[in-house]
Amino acid sequence: MVIMTTTSSFTFLPVLERIAEEISRTPGRGRPADYIPALAACDPRSFGMAVAELDGTVYGVGEWRQPFSTQSVTKVFTLALDLAREGDELWEHVGREPSGNPFNSLVQLEYENGIPRNPFINAGALVVTDRLQTRTGDAAGELLAFLRAESGNTALDFDKEVAASENAFGDRNAALAHFMASYGNIDNDVPVLLDQYFRQCSIAASCADLALATGFLARHGIRADGSRLLTRSQAKQVNAVMLTCGTYDAAGDFAYRVGLPGKSGVGGGIIAVVPGRCTLCVWSPGLDERGNSVAGVAALDRFTTLTGLSVF
Ligand code: DON
Repeated sequence: MVIMTTTSSFTFLPVLERIAEEISRTPGRGRPADYIPALAACDPRSFGMAVAELDGTVYGVGEWRQPFSTQSVTKVFTLALDLAREGDELWEHVGREPSGNPFNSLVQLEYENGIPRNPFINAGALVVTDRLQTRTGDAAGELLAFLRAESGNTALDFDKEVAASENAFGDRNAALAHFMASYGNIDNDVPVLLDQYFRQCSIAASCADLALATGFLARHGIRADGSRLLTRSQAKQVNAVMLTCGTYDAAGDFAYRVGLPGKSGVGGGIIAVVPGRCTLCVWSPGLDERGNSVAGVAALDRFTTLTGLSVF
């Protein structure tokens, strides 16, 4: 498949331009994450948005080619990579229910015997990365190779400064990992797992890269080269977990406003899927109190309203 990039869509581009214009007039864009110091300096007024069609044609507006810190957006890809390898056994180690709690919360883990509610809160993502690490010996490297292949961008890479910054302030994730290890739900040494997880979250990619890399979820499990990563049923499962858990304790509001499977990251990125039609990625680093991009959610809300493309 040829990945074609263009800025002259007769369908999506006018919609994207209208959204970018509306967003540029919106005051109050939230605040960049500051618990990872390397992210705190981002400009909350940055904005980019891209739409990729099933054949890899991609359209964008604003800073859609600007790399940003992918953070929790990567949890979708590690979930898919692990699910493809181990299948349903994964669900014995991580649940698939919304948590109703913040992404870095510890509270449910003790009541629920070290089994995290879902793969998108930090505890669940640590379990997924741990299992992918056991199966591949290099979970973050496997993820990076996948993102490069699907986006066609071989320049994608880890951001060592972001990974080191998160490691230096990583007590919360270390606590989650050690606590789950005490229940026997982590295979690898915790420092090895944390290194893999922080490198995973540090990958820098643009809206164009991530919209393309998400394409397999709109193609019911088929990768950019036509090979199959997930069964049709598994692709449905990942989309369903994105819809119900992808924006943490705001997942209900996101489903209400946007009506698409989506996954946010504290770098300000959000990916979203219109199954059978297209994938989206929007980026703006100003976050709300739940860790979701303010302008990003607003832009996706406008996209589904203007186009009528939603799963409902
Ligand atoms: O583990 C963390 O806290 C970050 N690396 C990722 C958190 C994140 O992106 C949550 N998303 N909104």
